[in-house]
Amino acid sequence: MKSSFWKGKRVLVTGGNGFLGSHLVEELKKRGAEKIITPRKKDHDLRNKDESIKLTKNTQIVIHLAGNVGGIGYNQANPYALFYDNLLMGLNVIDACRHNKVDKIVIIGTVCSYPKHTPVPFKESDLWNGYPEETNAPYGIAKKALLVQSLAYKAQFGLDVINLLPVNLYGPGDNFDPSSSHVIPSLIKKFHEAKIAGDSHVTVWGTGKASREFFYVEDAARAIADATEKCNQSEPINIGTGSEIKIKKLVEMIKKIVGYHGRIVWDKTKPDGQPRRMLDTSRARKLFGFQATTNLETGLRKTIEWYKSTFA
Ligand SMILES: NC(=O)c1ccc[n+]([C@@H]2O[C@H](COP(=O)([O-])OP(=O)(O)OC[C@H]3O[C@@H](n4cnc5c(N)ncnc54)[C@H](OP(=O)(O)O)[C@@H]3O)[C@@H](O)[C@H]2O)c1
Repeated sequence: MKSSFWKGKRVLVTGGNGFLGSHLVEELKKRGAEKIITPRKKDHDLRNKDESIKLTKNTQIVIHLAGNVGGIGYNQANPYALFYDNLLMGLNVIDACRHNKVDKIVIIGTVCSYPKHTPVPFKESDLWNGYPEETNAPYGIAKKALLVQSLAYKAQFGLDVINLLPVNLYGPGDNFDPSSSHVIPSLIKKFHEAKIAGDSHVTVWGTGKASREFFYVEDAARAIADATEKCNQSEPINIGTGSEIKIKKLVEMIKKIVGYHGRIVWDKTKPDGQPRRMLDTSRARKLFGFQATTNLETGLRKTIEWYKSTFA
């Protein structure tokens, strides 16, 4: 597990105290990284160019995870900040890396950058074939612009910026705040609270017909660490499991694991989001040998256990 790659290097993980970031930091420690810097937003706001320059000084590796991120409702309520924050942070961090001659830069993009109607499985070559699903377009396009920035820096300065596109994440430490959470934590909380309260039904957004791919956060952390160690190119790379599930089936799985016995009511006035999502993960396998190992049921059980031990 340990790798000499990390020895003696200063590694900046922006967003290193967030959901994905804290799992990544654990993974990097296991691999032998000794000097990991994880700045907080309140002390170092990356929308400020000078902060980005200060943080990336004398640094060999930058993994940029800081982001303004949330579920469909959060995206609908905050389009301005999702566009502005994600674009500006990425713009500043990549440019600061050029300024300070950082050796290796890894940017975490998103599946939300793909066009609304992308043929399944999503291939990286389809990324520019249309506009994203409307609710997540400000977020998805801000992240996609960073890919163009990376290619421009590669063309002009020979700088390789690795761009990873993770699909929807879930796992222990996820955000369970209903105003900004993604679908899995939101469902776990709803079913758990309905079970405790003895409610007769739980209302779920949409029709249940959309499909999604879900990527366990510890697998995602491993993919990012593998890519940092082994990859040197700027073309986008999908990271995920390469399998999809209909939301209806996901809802039933979570209901069963939580042990809730009431009814499910579908609120069809609420959006489904993108109709289908599933990645072609062959490029990641080819470039750095990554394959996800946690199946959805195992990952959900671990997440629900963590939720109960933390909040219940
Ligand atoms: N969650 C998913 O399903 C998913 C899927 C695909 C891609 N991603 C990407 O993965 C990355 C991490 O997501 P996450 O779910 O771990 O998010 P998260 O838990 O909300 O963490 C976001 C992190 O970004 C930092 N941050 C936010 N605004 C900042 C600013 N202006 N200046 C400096 N730092 C700032 C936060 O710092 P503080 O800790 O100080 O608040 C936090 O550590 C994001 O780039 C996201 O786009 C996530």
